[in-house]
Formats: sequence, C-alpha cells, structure tokens
Amino acid sequence: MNIGIIGFGAIGGFVARSIKNGTLKDYKVKAVFDLDDGKLKKAKEEGFYTVDNFEDFLKGRYDIVLESASQDAARRYLPEILSHGFSILVMSGGVFSDTEFKNKMENLAKKHGVKIYIPSGAISGLDGIEAMKFAGELKVTLETRKNPKSLGRNDMHEVVIFEGGAKEAAQKFPRNINVAMALALATEHPENVRVRIISSPEVHANTHTIYAEGKSGKMVIKVENVPFPENPRTSFLAALSALQILKKITQTLVIGG
Ligand SMILES: NC(=O)c1ccc[n+]([C@@H]2O[C@H](COP(=O)([O-])OP(=O)(O)OC[C@H]3O[C@@H](n4cnc5c(N)ncnc54)[C@H](O)[C@@H]3O)[C@@H](O)[C@H]2O)c1
Repeated sequence: MNIGIIGFGAIGGFVARSIKNGTLKDYKVKAVFDLDDGKLKKAKEEGFYTVDNFEDFLKGRYDIVLESASQDAARRYLPEILSHGFSILVMSGGVFSDTEFKNKMENLAKKHGVKIYIPSGAISGLDGIEAMKFAGELKVTLETRKNPKSLGRNDMHEVVIFEGGAKEAAQKFPRNINVAMALALATEHPENVRVRIISSPEVHANTHTIYAEGKSGKMVIKVENVPFPENPRTSFLAALSALQILKKITQTLVIGG
C-alpha cells in the first residue's frame, strides 16, 4: 500500500518512521508534505521523499493519504484527495463537526469509490459503542480531564471549563477534543453525546472517561494518556491508533473495531 503523509509532526513523523522500521510492513511512504521547512528538512534527512506544496503532493499515486496536520488542512485538502481517488485517514476528525462538510465528503468518497477512516485517537471503545447502537439510541458522556497547563490555563483547583454537545466541544477545542467528534460519529447521533472538560491541577496524564448507556447495558471506559514527547498536546495513544487502523485495513483476520 502506498501512503502519502500530510503533516510531518508528532503523528505523521511517528507513522512514517513506523512504516520505515517495518512495524507496518504492508506500507510504503511515497511522499511527505508539510508547509514547515524545518519539518521537511527533517523528513528528507530521514530518507523520505518530500514536497512543499499540495499541487505536487497530488501528483503522487496513493492507496491512502494520512492527514496529520490540522483541522484547517483537513477541510482544505480533503475534497481534492477524495476526487483524485485516494482514501484518507483523518486525524483531525473535529473537521466533521460541520455536518454539511461531512455529508459532502461522504458523497465524494462514494462517487470515487474510496473511504474516509477516522481512528479512535486518544480514546478507546468505539467498537463497543458501534455495537451497542444496534440495540437503539445511546446516551453517551465523554469526561475529559486535563492539566490546566495543557489547556493554556493556571487553575489552582479543579474546574469544569466546558459542558455541552460534542459538536460545540470539537469546535471550541479543536486541538484538544477531536476525540469528541470520533465518539459522536460512532454513535450516529451526535446530539446524544455530552462532553465535560475539566481543568485539574491534580492530573498529569490527559484522562478521558466514556460513559455509555443503552438497551444492551452500560459501559465505562477510562483512558489515561501519556503525552507524546514531540508534542505534549497529543497523546501517544492517538499516534498508535493511526497504526492500528492502517494495519486493520490490510488485515485478513479482522478483530474488533
Ligand atoms: N483524533 C485524535 O484523537 C487526535 C489526537 C491528537 C491529535 N490529533 C490531531 O491530529 C493532527 C496532527 O497532530 P500532531 O500532534 O501530529 O500535530 P503537530 O503540530 O505535531 O504536527 C502537525 C504538522 O502538520 C503541519 N501542517 C499544519 N498545517 C499544514 C497544512 N495546511 N499543510 C501541510 N502541513 C501542515 C505542521 O507544519 C506540522 O508539521 C492535529 O490536527 C491534531 O489536533 C487528533
């Protein structure tokens, strides 16, 4: 499988290196695109073919493109990537909080016979949520606890800084809460997903707790994330979830979600 990578930051760099070192044996990195000269230099030094503009990136032939740049980048590049017949793995899933955009992208993907993949990112249990929803609607709450520093705040005590719908959360915290959107999409009823974001000086690992309730029962999943050394705002698990979904795409024996 040929992969093109947009954004050679914490996640993009990690995925590229994981392919190069054989962790993902079925992939070959065909091109790395970034707007940052420093990142491009680094990618080139590590032996990757690099491009500094989207037009040249599109000239490549890919089975899949990894978007690991930003929500703005996802919004800007997705239509052309799909129209060129490339599937895409979108790390900046918050972009789909715009339902009109999401529907347009789904239609484009259908038209060109390609897929849009959204990883579970910094959370877990989306397979369970997707299974539970077959029994009817779900009530889901995502509680995210972060250290005030990672939210750009100086709180001395625990404080709820946001409580509301998943879409609003994704829009207000674009860097911190892509996970809310993945969860909302998994339930298919984003309006049933509530998000609580808590700034807590006592936590040092970003913690996400998902409470789901439906006809089949209740599910509670808590994930305590180790920050990624290259970008402490990103969780290590998010980068690993990109590997997980890429591997799943090529697997014959498919386990879980
Ligand atoms: N789904 C999740 O759970 C989850 C978790 C963590 C991060 N993310 C998202 O994944 C994305 C990447 O995260 P990261 O930690 O690797 O970020 P990062 O800041 O370490 O790297 C992003 C890279 O993309 C490049 N870039 C930015 N805009 C670009 C553009 N328009 N065109 C080309 N390159 C561009 C930057 O120069 C940088 O090298 C972010 O949007 C982040 O919010 C999602």
